[in-house]
Amino acid sequence: MNKRRVLIIGSGGREHALAWKLSQSPELERLFVAPGNAGTEPWNVPIPAQDISSLVEFALKEGIDLTLVGPEDPLSLGIVDAFQEAGLRIFGPTKAAAQLEGSKSFAKAIMESAKIPTAKCEVFENPDQAKTYIRALGAPCVLKADGLAAGKGVIVAMDLETALQAVDEIMDGNFGAAGKKLLIEEFLEGQEISLLCFADGITARPMVPVQDHKRALDGDKGLNTGGMGTYSPPPIWTTELEERVMRDLVNPTLKVMSERGTPFQGVLFMGLMLTEQGPKLLEYNVRFGDPETQVVMKRLDSDLLPVLWECTEGRVSEAVLEWKEEAAVCVVMAAPGYPSAYPKGLPIHLPESVEENSVIFHAGTRMNVGNLESLGGRVLGVTAAGQTIQQAREKAYTLVETIDFPQAHFRRDIGIKGLETGSIG
Ligand code: AMP
Ligand code: GLY
Repeated sequence: MNKRRVLIIGSGGREHALAWKLSQSPELERLFVAPGNAGTEPWNVPIPAQDISSLVEFALKEGIDLTLVGPEDPLSLGIVDAFQEAGLRIFGPTKAAAQLEGSKSFAKAIMESAKIPTAKCEVFENPDQAKTYIRALGAPCVLKADGLAAGKGVIVAMDLETALQAVDEIMDGNFGAAGKKLLIEEFLEGQEISLLCFADGITARPMVPVQDHKRALDGDKGLNTGGMGTYSPPPIWTTELEERVMRDLVNPTLKVMSERGTPFQGVLFMGLMLTEQGPKLLEYNVRFGDPETQVVMKRLDSDLLPVLWECTEGRVSEAVLEWKEEAAVCVVMAAPGYPSAYPKGLPIHLPESVEENSVIFHAGTRMNVGNLESLGGRVLGVTAAGQTIQQAREKAYTLVETIDFPQAHFRRDIGIKGLETGSIG
């Protein structure tokens, strides 16, 4: 068997979950994570995720066989192109293909040419024209900054006043270049599902479906965040829905991307809204989701490493992809105040051991002279699996109670929507 040296780029909960899974691979020779967090300490290399030239240099020096990119920023900066130019194998889309996430107007243009069901949308560069359009359209409507804005560039306006204010908020320089173009979208109603797919440029294979909880507070209230918790599988999802999404949304995307000379290799993450008219695409992401990956990796039974490898070879159809017949829940413990301003350096004490089938994934953590402390907004992803969503939920929340992180903010309703028909199979 070939043994591979693998480099993961990033430092969040997603990267800890990927490292946890890859570290179990029989094909792994050695793992590195740049820069990683306290959970990935045995594998960490102190190179920032955006320092592409140092990462290329490191990969060449260490003889890395495969690199896996977690966050979107290095992808949009062209890390895949730089690695490929240096003759290095890397899992993820090129800069041109990463525009599916990096530019919402580009994504909309691709959806249009691939005839993908999505919200109606207009793009504006002039605030007065945007406001005239909003007055005609009425509320609710959704306003989005065109570029990457760390998940904060979307405002769902339930009334006209909020919508008009949002135009100024986005276009008045708060978002820099990301706010130069503004998208105004029809408001869609339904349940949101994240469907992540392994894509090799031509073919895609879906992972298990996940439901994220984007708002900061229980009952989907409060500000939008990067995600406060996830569970899988959502009972609303069916095989028939999956076939429809692959046929009408995923495959046409890959076809259009390939035809325009920018084939998509990596994780194609479909942010779906299940509306009464059927599944519609809210957005593409071009990477593993966070905290979607925590539950997806918990449920992945087969080896991850060969799947990534087959994607880079254009042979994902041959990859073995097996999933556990279990439910998984991930509860994010965040710093108080997140997603607004929050303190750093809060002390955290973890239990010595955790129950079987549970994992505490680290996100914004670091070791400071032997002590674990918080460093980011989302700090831990407490993840557990069980026979049903109810069981997985109970295990995850029991584990949360054993963590000494007194000021942590977390939602208490992660997975509640999945209890309607909580058993699997
Ligand atoms: P995005 O970054 O585009 O995924 O938007 C962030 C969140 O805003 C999504 O997860 C949805 O909850 C919400 N959202 C985005 N677009 C729409 C839409 N057209 N209708 C309703 N909600 C939306
Ligand atoms: N949890 C949503 C994302 O990763 O974008």
